Amino acid sequence: MKSKFQKIKGTYDILPPESKKWNEVISILQSISHQFGYEEIKTPIIENIDLFKQNIGYETDVSKEMFSWEDSSSNQLVLKPEMTAPVVRAYIESGFFRSKPLCKLFYIDALFRREKPQKGRQRQFHQFGIEALGSSGVEQDVEVILLATKVLSHLGITNTTLQINNIGNHETRKKYEEKLNGYFSDYKSNLSKLSQNRLENNSLRILDSKEKEDLEIIKNAPLINEFLTKDELNNFKTLLSHLDALEISYKESSHLVRGLDYYNGTTFEISNMSSRSQNALLGGGRYDYLVESMGGPSTPAVGFAAGIERLLIESSMHNKNKEIDFFIGFDSHAEKAIRIANQLIDEGYSIYIDTLKKSEKNQLKNAIKMNASFYLRCSELIELKNLSSKEECVINNITDLKKFIKS
Ligand code: HAM
Repeated sequence: MKSKFQKIKGTYDILPPESKKWNEVISILQSISHQFGYEEIKTPIIENIDLFKQNIGYETDVSKEMFSWEDSSSNQLVLKPEMTAPVVRAYIESGFFRSKPLCKLFYIDALFRREKPQKGRQRQFHQFGIEALGSSGVEQDVEVILLATKVLSHLGITNTTLQINNIGNHETRKKYEEKLNGYFSDYKSNLSKLSQNRLENNSLRILDSKEKEDLEIIKNAPLINEFLTKDELNNFKTLLSHLDALEISYKESSHLVRGLDYYNGTTFEISNMSSRSQNALLGGGRYDYLVESMGGPSTPAVGFAAGIERLLIESSMHNKNKEIDFFIGFDSHAEKAIRIANQLIDEGYSIYIDTLKKSEKNQLKNAIKMNASFYLRCSELIELKNLSSKEECVINNITDLKKFIKS
C-alpha cells in the first residue's frame, strides 16, 4: 500500500531499530564531550539570512544552498545550514566572552542544505560539533583534534585519514590568493565551468575541486607553505609535533582550504578511506576573526563538526538489542495485566504489553523475538515463564513474581 504522503526529497525518518543505534551514538558523543569539559549549546533552527551570508561567505556553496524565505514581517529567514555562526552569535549575545574566558561548547543539531541528495548527503542532516572560544594556543587545536579522534575510535571507525593544513592569517591568505589567481588565470579556458566561476570569486576554492579537468592544473599550483610567516610555520610545526607525541597520524595537505570563508590558520578534515563519495566524516579549523567580525571582542577560536549520519554509516558498533524485562500478554483479563504492568513499571522494570490479545503461542513467539527475559500471561491464572531457563510458575501477586525472578 502506498501512503498518500511522502517525505520531502533529501529528508528521511530515523526508524527503529536504527533509532536505538542513533541514541547510542548520541550518548557516546555527549559523554566524550563532557569528559573533555565541553558544555552543550542548543540554538534555534531559524536564523536571519545575513548571519550566514556575511560570515560563511556570499559565494560559498553552503550559502547558496540555504532554505530561505521571507516571513510576513519581511524578515529574511533561513533554516540554519551550519552551527559555527549561530554558536558565535549566541556567545556574543549571552556575554559568555566576559564570563567564560575559555568557552568550550558542543552541539548536536539538525541542519539544512539544499544539496543534491545521495548516500551520506541529505538536505536535512545532523551534526555533532565542538567550538572552543578564547584560546589562540596551538594546544587548543591539538585538544580539538584529539577529541575528534576519540569520537571516531569510540564509535569503532577505523581506516580514516586526518588531513591537516595551515592557510595562514588574512594577510598571508590574501597574498596567496593573488598568486593563485594569477596561476589559475593562465589556465582559465582549461578549467571546469565550476572552477572558472570560482576564479571570479574565490580562487582558493578551486583547490577543492574534484573535476577531472582541474586536477592536473591543481597539482602544480603554488603552495600556501611558501607564503606562511615564520610564526605560522613554527606554530604548524609545533602542532604536528604534538600530534606525533599523541601518535595521531596525519597527512599534511597544502590544498585543504575548506568550503567556508571564516577559516584561518589550522584547517583539518578526517575522511574515510573506504568510501568513494561523501567521505568527509568531519572537518574544522581556526576562525580567529569571526567573533570580532560579528561584533564581539577579538577572540581566537577553533572547532570542528561531524555529520552524524556519516558517523553512523561508518560505525562498526552493533545494535545492542536491549532486551525488555517482561512481555505481558493477556486474553480477556486485561485489568489484571494492566495492574501488574503498572506495578512492574513502578518497580523499575521495562515492559511490553501486547494489546492484540492473540493466542498464547503467538505471544510467546513475539516475546522471544523481542528478546524479553520473562513472558507473563494473564488469563484465569497469571503464568510466568523465564525465557532463558524455560522455568515457569503460576503467581498470585508481585511478591510471588519477585521471588520467582530472584530464584
Ligand atoms: P562542513 O565541512 O560544512 O563544516 O560540515 C562538517 C561535516 O558535516 C562534514 O564533514 C559532513 O560530515 C557533514 N555534512 C555536511 N553537509 C552534509 C550533508 N548535506 N549531509 C550529510 N552530512 C553533511 C561545517 O559545517 C563547519 N561549521 C565545521 C566547523 C565547526 N568549523 C569550525 N567549527
